[in-house]
Amino acid sequence: MKKILVIGSLNMDFVLEVDHIPVVGETVLSKSLQFVPGGKGANQAFCAGKLGGKVSMLGAVGKDQHGDALLRGLSGAGVNISPIRQLSGKNTGVALIGVNAQGNNSIIISQGANLEVTPRAIDENIALLTESDIVVFQLEIPLETVLYGAKKAKELGKTVILDPAPAVENLPKELFSCLDIIKPNEIELGTLLGDPNAKESLSDSCRRLKELGVKNVIVTLGEEGAFLLEESGGETRFPAVSFGPAVDTTAAGDSFTAALALGLSQGMNLKESVSLSIRVGGMVVTRKGAQTSIPSREEVFGPSL
Ligand code: RIB
Repeated sequence: MKKILVIGSLNMDFVLEVDHIPVVGETVLSKSLQFVPGGKGANQAFCAGKLGGKVSMLGAVGKDQHGDALLRGLSGAGVNISPIRQLSGKNTGVALIGVNAQGNNSIIISQGANLEVTPRAIDENIALLTESDIVVFQLEIPLETVLYGAKKAKELGKTVILDPAPAVENLPKELFSCLDIIKPNEIELGTLLGDPNAKESLSDSCRRLKELGVKNVIVTLGEEGAFLLEESGGETRFPAVSFGPAVDTTAAGDSFTAALALGLSQGMNLKESVSLSIRVGGMVVTRKGAQTSIPSREEVFGPSL
């Protein structure tokens, strides 16, 4: 089995259930507050580890109770946490997540220790990067670190995956050319291209990302499944798979990316890996929270012999 390295964020999610997400200037009351381990990077590492992957995570948390809880959770999912620094004087990242009655969310993040994941951390872990096969990034740590790490990973011949969330406009062109796979959702696709209508012409939009240097593009489409544009130019549409009513979409995208990396690490081809991702993402939305919503290996693959 190939080795996965996730380089990215860890947050403690403060989850607030609300009837509706507040608009500007509005105050709403929440019925509950829960602390749930999250962060896009940590969710990906946790999911890939829980599903049986060989996973390491590079990141940073504060020396506080939230950092302790995140590290405990990842370790329990079988993730190698030794590259995660626990820093005195820094807070663990925090995400304030409002979840409405339809299960949709709105997230505000205080990055805290995630901002300390600098290019130097990549250099300090170059041996780990060298022995990894698949390297996964998101955009909740400094962009210069993502760019530096992706370049190093590319130079070392690794499979580089970027989950471009939270999406920003005008990502450096040199980042795109390091990527084997980019996996935006339809809103992120529009942001990356500076074109709010990008999802209306999916094929053309994905081809524009390819022209920037990405090899393969996967766009997740919520209830409409996913769209894949491969390096060969082949296009595939994947229908969504439902496991019940959606109660919370938090970490659906993260688990999709994690399952993609896991599938590739286990020798599946890209289409097979996307199908696996759709199943895992479909399960995650039927449960509440980030890492609390990740299914077990048995649920995804059936009972092991
Ligand atoms: O993608 C969901 C994640 O986004 C949450 O767990 C939160 O921490 C934010 O990073």
